[in-house]
Order: sequence, then structure tokens, then C-alpha cells
Amino acid sequence: MNTIHKSVDPESIDTSVMDEAGSIIRSGGLVAFPTETVYGLGGDALNPASSRKIYEAKGRPSDNPLIVHIADMGDLEKIAEDIPDVAYALADRYWPGPLTMIFKKNSVVPSETTGGLDTVAVRFPSHPVAQAFIRAAGGYIAAPSANISGRPSPTTGDHVRADMDGRIDMIIDSGPCDIGLESTIIDLSSDVPMMLRPGFVSADMLREVLDELDTDPAVYREVGPDTKPKAPGMKYRHYAPKGKVTIVSGKKDDVVRYIREKLDEDSGRVKTAVLSDSDDREQYERADLVADMGDRNDEAAIASRLYDVLRKCDDEDIEEIYSEEFNTPQLGQAIMNRLIKAAGHNIVKV
Ligand code: TXA
Ligand code: MG
Repeated sequence: MNTIHKSVDPESIDTSVMDEAGSIIRSGGLVAFPTETVYGLGGDALNPASSRKIYEAKGRPSDNPLIVHIADMGDLEKIAEDIPDVAYALADRYWPGPLTMIFKKNSVVPSETTGGLDTVAVRFPSHPVAQAFIRAAGGYIAAPSANISGRPSPTTGDHVRADMDGRIDMIIDSGPCDIGLESTIIDLSSDVPMMLRPGFVSADMLREVLDELDTDPAVYREVGPDTKPKAPGMKYRHYAPKGKVTIVSGKKDDVVRYIREKLDEDSGRVKTAVLSDSDDREQYERADLVADMGDRNDEAAIASRLYDVLRKCDDEDIEEIYSEEFNTPQLGQAIMNRLIKAAGHNIVKV
């Protein structure tokens, strides 16, 4: 397939590109587009054939449901049922933005889009290009992250091209995503709201609006084969680079010493990378790639760099990746959740 490539400036959106993208979606095609979190791979959420195509383009198991993106608050009630009051309170505070809410679905939403579930995940993104595209396409865009299944989510147009060129009809490139980690997911379809995936909207931010909040155990721990994570996507080894990731946890000096020892052992044998705080980067001169994640306190920078760094490790065929911990105050939960998944829960305590 020949993929059309377009650059769109979020400050001055070219409406002819939006019209072209919209007509591709209406005729059942797929378009990758920017959001404030990561790039999405969009199709018509109300067309079962489009959802099937999304699974195929990503190589994603079709029991893993898609998020439906809207760009008008009024459209929520057309696809969801039993919407609780707290949803409106959360929407008031965090929509448009990096929050996905799960509701009981109605019959307008095909089961292909929801991976066979009777619930639907809905998000109203804040990115102006995402909003213009959703409106041009008829209002309901099913979109997972625009990566090949199992690879880190794309946060730049180049990442999307690397995974999707030749597989979809169009790629809209609007430069790097602001946040760089996927949206927070909260399930509002049962009695107590439950966070299924941490993101930019932290548990503390959710509690500002909610009296009660549970967290799916799969967010923190490796769940056994008998426990089913609530978000089917959480059961797959996700966000995974090709190399083996080891997270090294402990006091700063001990962490640096441990990683230096490992680099000495690996040197000349396997290709190594270290994800390092700016302060420590000079300690890791023996690594083939030192990824400077920035200042430990600048959590927005760390979050926005993470997936690019993991992809660089793949590009350079890195086999062993050591990472310091990045337990920052607000975004730390989301950053560590993604890193722990990339590491397949391989954490060394020193
Ligand atoms: O920031 C984001 O959310 C990005 C951008 C493109 O909006 N999208 C994204 O989609 O991350 P995806 O498909 O990569 O991740 C969606 C996650 C999956 O883990 C999926 O299992 C879960 O949401 N999910 C979707 N619908 C669900 C539902 N009805 N019930 C439980 N989990 C659901
Ligand atoms: Mg994804």
C-alpha cells in the first residue's frame, strides 16, 4: 500500500489535509494522527471492517479493545450507557486531555471495536490536530497507539513511519507529542472507579474528583495466568524493546556501582545501553549508548523521552539495557509502570 505523508502545523491546521483524512476514514481506510499523549492509528470506530483493519495493521490480537476518540462532549451519550455523575465531574476537570474513561457500550459500537467486551473506552484528546481530524472523519475514531504490537508507542512522526509506512493509507505528522506516555485509563462501568493504566492524570489527580478509587493490581505487579487484568492490553508484554531491560533499584551510589560492574562484565561481549539521570551519565562511559533522560526532577522531560530512547536501543541493536529508577512525584507511577513492563518485571535491588 502506498502511504500518503502529510505534515500539519497544529498552530495553523491545513483543512484540506483534514478533509482528505476524513474521507479516507469514511471510506473505511486508516490514518495515523498526533495526540497529546502518543500517535494514534485511527479508523472509523462504528465500522467493524475498519477495526479489523486496525488489528491487522498493528499485528494486534483482536481481543484487545480499542479506545474510541471523540471531539465533542455531546457525542459521549451516543455511544455509552449508564454514564455516572463522576464521569461528568472528571470530564469537567480533565477533558479534553489524557484521560480515557470506560463505560457500558450501546449497540452503535460494534463488538469488533471493543474486542468483544460490552464496555467501551472513550477519550476526548486535547491536541488540536486530533480534534480537527476526528470531526472531519465523522466524530468517532477508534485508535490504539500507532506502533506495531509489542513495540514502544510512537511519540514522533518518524516513529510512526518506521512502523506503519506501507501498512496504512495516511500519516499525519505534527512533530513530537507533548506528554509521550499513553492516557490514564479509568473504568467507570462498575461500582467503584478503577484505574487500569496510570498516565499523566495521576491517581492523586483522580482522587481530587473521586471519593473512591481502586487500582487494578496488574498496574503494579506481575499477575499470574489465573488473574485477568481488566485492560486486556496489560496482559501482553508491552512497550518492549528487543534488548533485555534490567531496572536497578537502590541508593544512588549503589545503583551506579552495580551498573558500572555490569558494563565491565558485558564490555566487548554484548552491546549495552544505560538510561541515566543527567548527573550520572559520565559514570557509564563503557556503555555503547548512554541515554540521558534529563534532570531527575524534570519528570515531564523523562516521560517524553522514554519511548524514543527505547526505540534508539532497538535501532542500535542493543542487547542489554540497564535503567536507573525514575520514581518522580507525579508522573513517576506512569513512567515506572511502562519501564517495568518493558523490563518484563526484571528489577534488581542493590
Ligand atoms: O493515549 C492513549 O490512550 C493512546 C492515544 C492514541 O489516544 N491510545 C492508546 O491505545 O494507548 P492502546 O490501544 O495502545 O491502549 C488502550 C488500552 C489497552 O490496554 C486496552 O486493552 C485498554 O486500553 N482498553 C480499551 N478498551 C477497553 C475496555 N473496554 N475495557 C478495558 N480495557 C480497555
Ligand atoms: Mg498501545
